[in-house]
Amino acid sequence: MMKRETIIRFDELTYDELPADEKVLVDTAVDATSRSYAPYSNFRVGAAIALDNGEIIAGSNQENVAFPSGTCAERSACFYAHARYPEAKFEKIAIAARGTDGEFTAEPTAPCGACRQALLEYEVLAGHDVPVILMGREKIYRLPSVRSTLPFAFSEF
Ligand code: THU
Repeated sequence: MMKRETIIRFDELTYDELPADEKVLVDTAVDATSRSYAPYSNFRVGAAIALDNGEIIAGSNQENVAFPSGTCAERSACFYAHARYPEAKFEKIAIAARGTDGEFTAEPTAPCGACRQALLEYEVLAGHDVPVILMGREKIYRLPSVRSTLPFAFSEF
């Protein structure tokens, strides 16, 4: 038997410490929370994806009375991004969320497992690491890649 471990290294930083392009991406994710349709959970998530063609695609969670037919912000954004620009590679992703009190979450909000797997598909297609920026009121986390968010990702190969 071997004892193995996996370590995730990431940055904890403030909004002011972000470079200009990442501020824009976080701002876009923040703005997207206002277009969330979340009458059931009242949890509003926004995601923004910077593409290598210069576009930023935003998405928000869209709920449905026939739960669980809705979809998360991250999958709204990544599926639309690839449907709209199938040739474009993902560069960076930012995520923000407002809780039931309407305030942005104090802690950074991380994508659910299904979204991590969905986002990973596009990191693989991009052929390089795609940093993931998780916005919180009190701090921001910047993970170096989608893969770093999902140890033991599913793969057919
Ligand atoms: N949600 C997201 O948009 N992204 C995630 O990664 C996890 C959860 C949404 C789904 C649902 O509309 C609401 O947040 C509460 O779970």
